[in-house]
Amino acid sequence: MKAVVITKPGRPEVLVVDERSVPVVQDDEVLIRVYAAGVNRPDVFQRKGNYPPPPGAPQDIPGLEVAGIIETCGASVENWKPGDAVCALLAGGGYAEYAVVHAHHCLPVPVHFSFAEAASLPETVFTVWHNVFQRGALKNGEHFLVHGGSSGIGITAIQLAKALGAKVFATAGSDDKCEACISLGADLCVNYKNENFEEVLKSQGADVILDMIGGDYIPKNIRLLRIDGRLVFINTMKGNKVRQVEGQPLDEVDFGLIMKNRLTITGSTLRNRDVGFKAALTREILENVWPLMNEGKFKPVIFREFPLPEAAKAHELMESSDHIGKIILTNAW
Ligand SMILES: NC(=O)c1ccc[n+]([C@@H]2O[C@H](COP(=O)([O-])OP(=O)(O)OC[C@H]3O[C@@H](n4cnc5c(N)ncnc54)[C@H](OP(=O)(O)O)[C@@H]3O)[C@@H](O)[C@H]2O)c1
Repeated sequence: MKAVVITKPGRPEVLVVDERSVPVVQDDEVLIRVYAAGVNRPDVFQRKGNYPPPPGAPQDIPGLEVAGIIETCGASVENWKPGDAVCALLAGGGYAEYAVVHAHHCLPVPVHFSFAEAASLPETVFTVWHNVFQRGALKNGEHFLVHGGSSGIGITAIQLAKALGAKVFATAGSDDKCEACISLGADLCVNYKNENFEEVLKSQGADVILDMIGGDYIPKNIRLLRIDGRLVFINTMKGNKVRQVEGQPLDEVDFGLIMKNRLTITGSTLRNRDVGFKAALTREILENVWPLMNEGKFKPVIFREFPLPEAAKAHELMESSDHIGKIILTNAW
């Protein structure tokens, strides 16, 4: 089969098409003929050599989510049959003609969704469901803030939080991105390049914050949390440590606020979680999120599609951060 492989750590050009054997299904796995694969920021980190795949996952083929048709089922698979249209969460290997995945990590393609739309869902929906609703325990009527509101994660978090009854705030790096966040249901979006999000939001505060930025956002997030607030990290793109912003005094974290306001600080990474955890998450998502998809209450946002051999261009676009929503690769080899 054809696959896009990472030849060595580096710039987008290290992604090239190569020939690989079609993966063989284990008893509890299915083989999917890939029609579309989602691009996620972790794929960029993997390409640069900063996010190694877990043991057992394809080591040089990136791709954490796909949609397509089941070609073969392992001997003990009972919930799918060849010909079923599915989307799936992978630990890697999505940028290829075929991918294998545990049968319990697949979901049906939602009603009226294209393969490209279905491929845009698994990585962000699984990440948001676990971090915002399980770990962050966001409830109806609470205030929710997501940084990077126009990212693949952001557009998913805004829509799910809104659909489940939260008041939603976002931050993003341009007025166009803020408009997109509002059109998806955010009640307020702060263009962080023009305004200090802490100043804008401090009168309202947040019960749950989903942060992928870290760095100088850490003390601001902690001050913004309301009583019993939860801060959930899924990345720290501006650094794991609180940093001094040039020209400003160091903004230290006040740990006293954690006691005074009974705060919880947590976070997680999805890719290295075990098969059972991901299967349980799949079941919960099928029950709680898939009805929203099937009823048209969640809008996939695809910024641009590229044929799989042009994966390098897709990564360049992602690194420019000019996109709003998801970038998808299609099986036009
Ligand atoms: N923990 C997990 O399990 C997990 C799973 C999936 C994704 N993630 C993380 O979630 C984040 C979003 O992923 P995604 O695939 O949705 O990414 P994406 O679509 O590429 O979005 C990232 C956005 O972050 C914003 N940003 C702000 N500061 C940035 C900085 N210093 N460097 C780069 N971007 C910055 C950019 O928008 P602005 O113009 O608004 O700045 C950019 O568009 C990533 O950090 C990813 O690693 C974590």
